[in-house]
Order: sequence, then structure tokens, then C-alpha cells
Amino acid sequence: MKIRQLEGKVAIVTGSSRGIGKAIAMELARQGASVVVNGRNQERLSLAEEEIKTIHDRISAVCCDVSTTDGGKLLITEALRRFGKLDILVNNVGISMRGNMADLNPEVFKLIFESNISGTASPTIAAIPGLRATRGSIVFISSVAGIRGLPNLSAYCSSKMALKALAESLRIEEAGNGIHIGLVYVGYTENDPGKETIAADGSKVVLQPRSGSILQTKERVARAVVRNIIRRKYITVLSLPGKLLSLVQPLSPRLVEWLILHHQEQFRRRNN
Ligand SMILES: NC(=O)c1ccc[n+]([C@@H]2O[C@H](COP(=O)([O-])OP(=O)(O)OC[C@H]3O[C@@H](n4cnc5c(N)ncnc54)[C@H](OP(=O)(O)O)[C@@H]3O)[C@@H](O)[C@H]2O)c1
Repeated sequence: MKIRQLEGKVAIVTGSSRGIGKAIAMELARQGASVVVNGRNQERLSLAEEEIKTIHDRISAVCCDVSTTDGGKLLITEALRRFGKLDILVNNVGISMRGNMADLNPEVFKLIFESNISGTASPTIAAIPGLRATRGSIVFISSVAGIRGLPNLSAYCSSKMALKALAESLRIEEAGNGIHIGLVYVGYTENDPGKETIAADGSKVVLQPRSGSILQTKERVARAVVRNIIRRKYITVLSLPGKLLSLVQPLSPRLVEWLILHHQEQFRRRNN
């Protein structure tokens, strides 16, 4: 019989009605956890809830915007009301953008930081008391773009780098309370159809489907996130480019800068 390593645990995944978040929610459910899924679009969220319920029925959905104080609180309160405790919070919500800094509408920074930082801080603050009680886990979903600043992605990179600061502060603050803090740097991953990004003028644009040898599947990312939780690891870096970048960047930032400078076009094409 297959051992389910998270049997009896209760997990929340923010932004889990599609994409990587949904894959993480499914992997947590496969490992036996009761799971609370979340998103802002009720129809998409209900579809995800039904799909995950094919694994088991201890699944609940809370439709709210976690970048607001009320949304973050509601998600945690509803999870506690439904399952009585909380063991795992995966902060997955995050949106990206495209455009050189010189061309950006400053509102782009506001949108990205509201989503990626307020959307992480609000549920995290509300979850801390419940996670202290179970000596649970908080995981932040970062990106290879959070290891160093990349062209065309200034607001996204700076928001993902800020997650590292959040994780570092929390690891010290909560060390005595037994909360595990994990930080996962995700590489270039397949997108669900219709995934949007923010253009330089602040409008939403749909991304093209992705391909290529370095593309990771959502399921692979999800398994690595769940391993990070089970092993209570701090940092997990995914994909070969991510692993190389995390090794070389601290040793020779000038070399990494030179490489990116000389491969800008290739890099831009891949991200559009
Ligand atoms: N895809 C990649 O290549 C890649 C690489 C590195 C890191 N990442 C990171 O992985 C995470 C997930 O990315 P993804 O590509 O799976 O994104 P995605 O396909 O756009 O999915 C985002 C999910 O979050 C929900 N959501 C967005 N804002 C929300 C909010 N304020 N409150 C509640 N739910 C919200 C969306 O549903 P609604 O729109 O209905 O709310 C959706 O379920 C992000 O943090 C991203 O930065 C992705």
C-alpha cells in the first residue's frame, strides 16, 4: 500500500484554481491532506474543486482575493471552520509582467506588489496563530526570477526577491514556535491556456503557449513543493538553469550579467 505522508494534515494553497497552484493542491490531496483551494473566479474555482475531489472529498473551496486584508482573513477563517485546524499554507498567488522599466506605467509595480507581496502577507499573518498550534509549514512560491534581476521583468523580479526577505524574517521570528518556512524557486514551467500577464501599460495580455527542452511540468513542480514541506527544507531550487544561476550568481554576478546581456533576444523571445 502506498504511504500517504500528509494523512491527517490540513493544507491551504492560495491561487489554486489553475496552473501550478492547482497541481500543488492535487499533490497535497494525493499525499492524504485535506485541502482548501482558492481563487477569485468562482466558476474556475468550482471546476478545480470538483477535479481535486476525484482524489478524495476532504476538499473545500474559498473564493476570495487574498491580496486584500479581508480576503486573507476569510481564507484562513473558513479553512479553520471547515477542518478545525491548519498545518500547511502554500503562498502560490503571483502574477508576472513584461516590459522594460523605462516603458512601464508605474501602476504595474502597484499591481505586482499587491498581488505578489500583499497576496502573500495577508493570508500568512492570518495563518500564523493556527500554524503555531500545529507547528506547521508556510511555503513561498518564488521564481528563478527571484534569484537575480532579469531584463523585461523588473517589477516581477523585485517582488519575488522580496519573498526571500519575508522568509528570512519569518524563519527567525517563528523559530521558537516551530513553524517551518520554505522557499521554492520555480523555473520555466508550462502554462494553463489563457494565463495572463501584465503589459507595460498595465493592461492584461494572454501569454502564448510555451515549449522547449527546459520547460518543466506543473506536476513536477508540485511534487518538489510537497517534498519541501514533508522534509521541512528551507530552500528548493528547481530546473537546471535555476540551479546553475543560484550557484554562479553569488560567485560571479558579473559573469551572469555578461551572459544575460549577450542572450537578451533569446531570453525575451522565450518569455513572450
Ligand atoms: N509558470 C511559470 O513558469 C512560473 C515560473 C516561476 C514561478 N511561478 C510562480 O508560480 C505561481 C503560480 O503561477 P502560475 O503560472 O500557475 O499562475 P496562473 O496560471 O496565472 O494561476 C494563478 C492562480 O492564482 C489565482 N489568483 C491570482 N491572483 C489571485 C488573488 N489575488 N487572490 C486569489 N487567487 C488569485 C488565479 O485564479 P483567479 O484569476 O480566478 O483568481 C489562479 O488560480 C506564481 O507565484 C508564479 O509567480 C510560475
